[in-house]
Amino acid sequence: MGSIFDEIIDRKNTKSLKWDYCRQRFGKDDILPMWVADMDFKSPSPIIEAIIRRAEHGVFGYTEASEKLSDALAGWMKNRHNWRIDNKWIVYSPGVVTSVNTAILAYTNPGDRILMQTPIYYPFYSSIRDNERELVVNPLKKNNGYYEIDFDDLENKLADNVKLMIFCSPHNPIGRVWKLCELEEVLRLCKKYDVILVSDEIHSDLVFKGHKHIPINSLAEGIHKKCITLVSPTKTFNIAGLSVSAAIIPDLELKSGFKKFLNKNGSNMLNIFGLTAAEAAYTSCEKWLGELLEYLEDNLNILVEYFQSNIPQIKVIRPEATYLAWLDCNDLPVPADKLKEFFVNKAGVGLNDGITFGKEGYGFQRLNFACPRKMLLEGMERIKKAVQALYI
Ligand SMILES: Cc1ncc(COP(=O)(O)O)c(C=O)c1O
Repeated sequence: MGSIFDEIIDRKNTKSLKWDYCRQRFGKDDILPMWVADMDFKSPSPIIEAIIRRAEHGVFGYTEASEKLSDALAGWMKNRHNWRIDNKWIVYSPGVVTSVNTAILAYTNPGDRILMQTPIYYPFYSSIRDNERELVVNPLKKNNGYYEIDFDDLENKLADNVKLMIFCSPHNPIGRVWKLCELEEVLRLCKKYDVILVSDEIHSDLVFKGHKHIPINSLAEGIHKKCITLVSPTKTFNIAGLSVSAAIIPDLELKSGFKKFLNKNGSNMLNIFGLTAAEAAYTSCEKWLGELLEYLEDNLNILVEYFQSNIPQIKVIRPEATYLAWLDCNDLPVPADKLKEFFVNKAGVGLNDGITFGKEGYGFQRLNFACPRKMLLEGMERIKKAVQALYI
């Protein structure tokens, strides 16, 4: 019997960024999009049913997140991540990027220095630059295809007047799940140099076997109170279009600063369907998530094996979490600044160009493998043919 995730769903003409905007993003319509981080799967049925029930009510006035939702989120954090949170620490926001921007505005001033570890999810570059803060980078070190934090560099940079650090845990695009000793060291250094730590944990529910996500804030009590955690059900349950997320801020002073700026921007009002979906996600979708993770891990194994056997010129950096594979294309006979064009025009697939994640992404591409297996095989087949043609 096939998996529910094998179903091919036509997403064209659904206002999908991934499927309906290929011309704007890649210059042509007829490509297989394997880029932006959403999945080509249906969301779990408890979410769909909850949305339908709420839609049928027919009145869509102003909303407020319920205590039931906070209980559900707190239960999720406790059961899945062994972190006991107080409902009073939760602030809802339309998205994690909104929350990162809010934290920047709330806790820093123009000209202040903000550190992040590169390559990294590209919107954070605009979060820093557009708010006129100064970017400080702590590039991740790559040893034999495995990325690690360069702690000497991190300490030197944090010591040099950094006010805030954006931490990505698990990390997009390189897919690391940070280990306990790494998290402890990040916390220790942030405490030592009095740096506010903003931990983006949007991918924390999408972790593969053999790895365990630890919320950095669950280690922070009594060590470093200037730590905020950003989570969301949107990646896990494929509801990014519903715009819902939460900031978990144990320190009351930081929490009130965050809320003030959220209100100032008018970003405090949430969408009723997002709130409804989040509640269903955190109460009724754990079984679905287990099945999803199995399917994604099978896709990942197939992807790694396929590239090793058929396209050895491209090295897959195997992610420990996320459904995003970081492809090292430096051995291809294609200049790094022509890679995007190569994948679009020769292979007919739309990937994320590595350079957008920072200069350490030069020569890399990011491939989203959260799609039905048939689609994944089609994408890889297209890449194989295009690569083979380079050597004829
Ligand atoms: C690390 C990371 N943070 C944030 C986001 C986006 O979050 P939101 O849609 O809630 O703004 C993404 C989406 O891919 C992501 O990978």
